[in-house]
Amino acid sequence: MTLGKEEAEVVLRLDRISKRFGALKANNAVSLTLRRGEVVALLGENGAGKTTLMNILFGHYVADEGVVEVFGQPLPPGNPRAALSAGVGMVHQHFTLAGNLTVLDNIRLGTEGLWSPSVSGARAKVEQLSRDFGLAVHPDAKVGRLSVGERQRVEILKALYRNARILILDEPTAVLTPQEAEALFATLRKATALGLSVIFISHKLHEVMAIADRCVVLRHGRVVGEVDTHATDRGALAALMVGGELSLPRAEARAPGAVLMKLDRVSTPDRGAAPGLKAVTLDLRAGQITGLAGVSGNGQAALAEILGGLSVPSSGQIVLGDHPVAGWSPGEALARGVARIPEDRHHQGSIADFDLTENAVLEGYRTRFSHRGWMNWRAAREFAEGIIKGYDVRCPGPETRIRLLSGGNMQKLILGRAMAPGPRVILANQPVRGLDVGAIAYVQSQLIAARDRGATVLLISEDLDEIMGLSDVIHVMSQGRLSPAFARGTMTAAELGLWMAGQRFGEADAA
Ligand SMILES: Nc1ncnc2c1ncn2[C@@H]1O[C@H](COP(=O)(O)OP(=O)(O)OP(=O)(O)O)[C@@H](O)[C@H]1O
Ligand SMILES: [Mg+2]
Repeated sequence: MTLGKEEAEVVLRLDRISKRFGALKANNAVSLTLRRGEVVALLGENGAGKTTLMNILFGHYVADEGVVEVFGQPLPPGNPRAALSAGVGMVHQHFTLAGNLTVLDNIRLGTEGLWSPSVSGARAKVEQLSRDFGLAVHPDAKVGRLSVGERQRVEILKALYRNARILILDEPTAVLTPQEAEALFATLRKATALGLSVIFISHKLHEVMAIADRCVVLRHGRVVGEVDTHATDRGALAALMVGGELSLPRAEARAPGAVLMKLDRVSTPDRGAAPGLKAVTLDLRAGQITGLAGVSGNGQAALAEILGGLSVPSSGQIVLGDHPVAGWSPGEALARGVARIPEDRHHQGSIADFDLTENAVLEGYRTRFSHRGWMNWRAAREFAEGIIKGYDVRCPGPETRIRLLSGGNMQKLILGRAMAPGPRVILANQPVRGLDVGAIAYVQSQLIAARDRGATVLLISEDLDEIMGLSDVIHVMSQGRLSPAFARGTMTAAELGLWMAGQRFGEADAA
């Protein structure tokens, strides 16, 4: 007899967990149960307390109050090893692998002591797990060379290798392509069929609807709702999350202005598997949002670098206003009115151990706040406070180190910093990744407002809905090549998909 999921054994029980950081109540009497073979989605706004709760479960943080029970046994607080040996495996929002080690060594790292099986035994186990769970990755590959999707597979393998029965995935799809996300879901379905249980954190409600059995929604540290996925829909979940109705902004069409920035047959070298640009010509016009659609890894990174002045083309020209430009520092870019919202906010956008004030004045802003080599920290702090207020960055204050911010709040700070000086050219690379639905609406309305005051916005995104909803003109990038410009409303998603797959480029060449 098989049990329905409602009757299956409870594998995890969080009972009235509370956690304060100074004055901030990150978790407030949160209770949650997870059953065998079940996927529970944990939802909530940026800063709602999701990662904190999972850090308590995994023993990274100690709760002020409340109990964690795994398979009926209370977990000793603040002890990740105890959590691991009780069968809890965590795949972090930000990966924790060692790039210079191989996949196999990363998986073995920190696990194997005197009782360890031989390396060949470990390899056999990893290979078996790869097959059972559909996690293709080579055991001898250096982790530093792997794609983000592959690294995530290593993190999951590592948890499974340690015999995890409960997998915690904190925004696992935020950094994945849609295809990689599908592969991850196939793995999770295999895992639950084998009796594992999953806690899945995501802001993407269509994913939650596709993979979760049940959703628990947090707001300001409290549970505000719990629903069966079958009994709800995306709209209802979004409303639960933000506490009201919400609609995403749509940009109305406008007449474009003069070209503010231009690429003229720009090429860059290929870098390993990542294609460089192939004679890309692109006009970015005042009062226009240019959407760049495409699957990640097709040259978007090279394009963002070139436009942001971080690298120089091997051939072709970049023109800003009336002048050709070569490379520039982020500070010079800023001085010329070019703002970047980088894709990788951890490595390009911020310095983890700096506080919010210091991070707000990174990237060339220092010159704005210094005089004869003296930094005006009071002005810098006011600048940071303005961003915190304007962009609703949830944090104790500007002296907080940025690494303590929730993922979405970190992104909001970087966004606010880019938008603050009123740039003429805004390079927005995946600007709403990791943001909750309310924050997405806000950020998109900011991009539209910037366009309406005459800026040009380049929106690089994998999300076709976002591209089609906001862009005045759309290009598709595939294998380093740029499609012609398509005006708003002239293309269907299916047609853009054919360009994204590279198919239409060949036909255009043949014609
Ligand atoms: N170690 C810490 N010190 C101080 N504040 C913290 C710490 N860890 C988390 N916080 C704060 O607790 C709140 C909850 O953060 P948490 O990371 O749990 O949010 P989240 O729901 O995961 O959000 P996101 O969707 O943006 O990832 C945030 O305001 C965050 O800044
Ligand atoms: Mg989080």
